[in-house]
Amino acid sequence: MPSVIVVGAQWGNEGKGKIIDLLTAQAKHTVRAQGGNNAGHSVIIGREEYRLYLIPSGIFHPHTQCYIGAGTVIDPEVLVFEINALESRGISVKDRLKISPAAHVIFPYHRKLDIALELRKGVLAVGTTGRGIGPCYADKAQRLGIRIVEMLEPELFAKMLKTVLTLKNEELYKVHDTAKLSYDEIYSEYTRYGNILRPYIGNVEEIVHGAINSGENVLLEGSQGTFLDNTLGSYPYVTSSCTVAGGLCTGIGIGPSLIDHTLGVLQAYTTRLGLGPLPSEIKEEHPFTDTYDPRDSSSPTRRKKRVGWFDAMLAKTAVRLNGFDSIALTKLDVLDKLPTIKICVGYELNGTRVQNLPYLSEELDKVKPIYETLTGWLHSISNITSYEQLPKETREYLKRIEEICGVPISLISVGPEREQILVQQNPFSTTRRR
Ligand code: IMP
Ligand code: MG
Repeated sequence: MPSVIVVGAQWGNEGKGKIIDLLTAQAKHTVRAQGGNNAGHSVIIGREEYRLYLIPSGIFHPHTQCYIGAGTVIDPEVLVFEINALESRGISVKDRLKISPAAHVIFPYHRKLDIALELRKGVLAVGTTGRGIGPCYADKAQRLGIRIVEMLEPELFAKMLKTVLTLKNEELYKVHDTAKLSYDEIYSEYTRYGNILRPYIGNVEEIVHGAINSGENVLLEGSQGTFLDNTLGSYPYVTSSCTVAGGLCTGIGIGPSLIDHTLGVLQAYTTRLGLGPLPSEIKEEHPFTDTYDPRDSSSPTRRKKRVGWFDAMLAKTAVRLNGFDSIALTKLDVLDKLPTIKICVGYELNGTRVQNLPYLSEELDKVKPIYETLTGWLHSISNITSYEQLPKETREYLKRIEEICGVPISLISVGPEREQILVQQNPFSTTRRR
């Protein structure tokens, strides 16, 4: 019985929420292992739309246990709000959510510093979500972080917060010319959050490991996307966590040998939020928009998405960096009305064709995409229920993507609803021999 990792293969917002929701129906355990409330999933169930920032989407399936792993950063205000919002809509969270004591806590100074730093960085600004993610991970690396486990020990928490806040207030005041924060207010507010969250804290690394070993279906859901990975993404226009499949293993404390299937989620085109290179970007008047969510309403910032053609250079690289076993292709119906569809199959840099993504973001920004043009299907595919019913042109588009990426497309999403998906292969049906 398998464990499946789901990772975004572009820059986030690939429609992972829906794929995860589909797979969760078969999972007994669902895990978030990196990032924080910079992520946002929206899940549509019937007429209801739900938004999640920290809690795994498994929460919508009553039989599923949910975990937030050690590799995440948690803003307790957001988490408490999310728990209450779900409970008030009749979705039970109690006894179904466990949080790792080793997860790091986002404090108000992280949020303030995130915003202040972005302003000060000027042309070097990254366009963060302003949720304090970067400063929190920086403190973790600096050994200045406070984890959930420490927040729950009143005396230890007081001692740590006093020291750290003194340093942070100096930085806020002297470097960024912003108001200092009150120790008493943070201490009492976070103690209150700690008491609310206390029943949810548990040894999630051990539980998840045990579940995989005893053959239960486990789903690890990635946040953000491959090219936002702090190490392997389009640095510096990245987030602060490790977003590739390997990062999910460390974030939940299991070894890579325990993973049975790694699924990459790709949109049928490319989008990007925030700043940074997007080689296949369509800058002139768009032939299409991301009708799904043009402003990314599920993300905390609701910024307008930039749109580009399917970029096979990126896709191939994502396959390599994550070791995808298969691909879930989403939002294919967005291309329904296009007479022709382009796929970016290569890049030219200063007149020479390059084989790999350049390391320099400045160069990735400058590359000239080489396109292949395919015929569009000019047909609404949203109500199609099997691969065979897809127009010939659609199947050709899918085949070309598979050919270039070198892995099969297991899932094809043709609309926003739960049912609008064609299943070619069930990722939970593969088991690696151990
Ligand atoms: P941060 O994660 O808030 O530090 O933002 C760093 C970069 O990652 C920015 O370009 C954000 O737009 C991007 N980012 C962070 N989280 C997400 C996400 O869940 N989806 C899409 N982009 C994200
Ligand atoms: Mg999102």
